[in-house]
Amino acid sequence: MIDTKPVLLSGIKPTGELHIGNYFGAMRQLVDLSKAGKYRLFIFVADYHALNTMQNAEEMRNRTRELVMAYIAVGLDPKEVVFFKQSDVPTHTELAWIFDTITTMPYLMRAHAFKDAEAKNKEISVGTFNYPMLMAADILLYDTAVVPVGQDQKQHIEIARDTAEKFNRIFKTEIFKLPEPYIMPEVAVVPGTDGQKMSKSYGNVIPLFASREELAKRVMGIVTDSSGERPENVYHVHRLVRSENELAQLYEEHRGNYKALKETLVEDLDRYLAPMRAKYEELKEDSSIVKEVLAGGKREAHAISEAKMEEVRRAIGVAY
Ligand code: ADP
Ligand code: TRP
Repeated sequence: MIDTKPVLLSGIKPTGELHIGNYFGAMRQLVDLSKAGKYRLFIFVADYHALNTMQNAEEMRNRTRELVMAYIAVGLDPKEVVFFKQSDVPTHTELAWIFDTITTMPYLMRAHAFKDAEAKNKEISVGTFNYPMLMAADILLYDTAVVPVGQDQKQHIEIARDTAEKFNRIFKTEIFKLPEPYIMPEVAVVPGTDGQKMSKSYGNVIPLFASREELAKRVMGIVTDSSGERPENVYHVHRLVRSENELAQLYEEHRGNYKALKETLVEDLDRYLAPMRAKYEELKEDSSIVKEVLAGGKREAHAISEAKMEEVRRAIGVAY
């Protein structure tokens, strides 16, 4: 049976140890979306995008494996979604080249990422400059209806739309469908152990698959400010795993006793994360699962995108 649900597609760069900010801010929403059954999901590891900044084979292999295991561990069912690696499906880079030929330099020079790098006087690679073209190819190959995005990626969706329109106009076709950004249900920014946004670049993370001991260490290190009613940095993490009502009582009972509150947070976080951690550990033991999932995803993504590429090749006149 042909699946006629609208396509939702997301690419994730395999750069860095996953933390609970990633989980509550992005991964959980994707899992929920896949379970809701409204969309047909395509999720891929954007390894060729990551290559712009991660140029170490060992790291690339490990991070990719970890990312796939992580998504399965948090509940993404590889039977329900097409889960693959960008580098396994060469139609992506092939189409990106074709898009390069119809796109002007001044147009790409208006991209935020490029302008930021310029402003900082950074020397950027051609791959970084062309980043939006590969991303447009990722999206347009699958007749994607929606792409879940944060603010920082919105412009890339606009570029994909412009590129689709431009291609369709030049080659007088309707091959490419225009994607829309999908704004995820509002999620609060998860604070890190220092109270700033949790981010791998700030060294303030609570790793998603940390052992209980590691959790305890990180939680005990959360910076608390004793001036307010309650330790806000502790509370905002706690709020992710316990209801407001329960917490109101708990924080009243232990008012001023930050140590007790942190100990409860360790316990609650541990309870919440333990099943995912167990699944992750199980996957680590059996590397054949990741291989199988990626092999299945590759087959499916290849078949779908190759059919689209055949249309593209005909439209531009390199195939008959
Ligand atoms: P990092 O900031 O650690 O480098 P990324 O930029 O790789 O994280 O983020 C990957 C995804 O996780 C994004 O969709 C982002 O919105 C989400 N995310 C990252 N950190 C947080 C956070 N502290 N709170 C909520 N969502 C987050
Ligand atoms: N640029 C995205 C990021 O930095 C990753 C990405 C690559 C992507 N290709 C994509 C996201 C296609 C959505 C759709 O997070």
